[in-house]
Amino acid sequence: MSKILITGGAGFIASHVADAYIALGHEVIIVDNLSTGEQSNVNPKAKFYLADITDEKAIKRIFEKEKPEIVNHHAAQKDVGFSVINPLDDAKVNILGSINIIVNSVNVGVKKTIYANSGGPLIDSEGRVVGVNTFKYVDASIEGMGFALESNEVKTTVNNLAKFQLLS
Ligand SMILES: NC(=O)c1ccc[n+]([C@@H]2O[C@H](COP(=O)([O-])OP(=O)(O)OC[C@H]3O[C@@H](n4cnc5c(N)ncnc54)[C@H](O)[C@@H]3O)[C@@H](O)[C@H]2O)c1
Repeated sequence: MSKILITGGAGFIASHVADAYIALGHEVIIVDNLSTGEQSNVNPKAKFYLADITDEKAIKRIFEKEKPEIVNHHAAQKDVGFSVINPLDDAKVNILGSINIIVNSVNVGVKKTIYANSGGPLIDSEGRVVGVNTFKYVDASIEGMGFALESNEVKTTVNNLAKFQLLS
């Protein structure tokens, strides 16, 4: 069984991911600022930290204390309309916050980091990419960071939801 830190675990998708990990017997730690998530979504068997992924000191402290083996990163500003009107604020959470999570994962020796991306490209009925929304640039940044870290001998896995699986 693994010690798994989930960001955004009070939100829609990651709260179910947390439930599934716990049902499999894993130890789950959730980091969430409750900006869109709900405390009531947090599985009572999970350890909960109220923290923002952009808070460098808080995230460093949590990672150094918990030393998770796996990180499943779902905390995000997910409102596409907001990202168009406020690209800098969106980037602070989705790019800088994600990099903060990845860097701390590396620093404490996390074996695998799973990133749920936005599914950014707009796909037609035959699977062809017909457009790109602003989230794709965020995904490209985070995936780029993941690949850079892999080249640094860190096993970082960057998944999209289509490929998403409960890795353990
Ligand atoms: N819901 C979908 O249909 C869908 C589809 C494709 C991809 N996604 C992606 O999956 C991820 C999760 O989506 P969701 O629908 O569960 O969203 P959600 O808003 O329900 O969950 C996101 C969670 O992250 C937390 N959060 C937001 N900013 C934070 C920050 N700065 N620090 C700490 N916690 C923060 C929120 O409080 C919330 O609990 C997002 O990256 C989203 O883009 C969602």
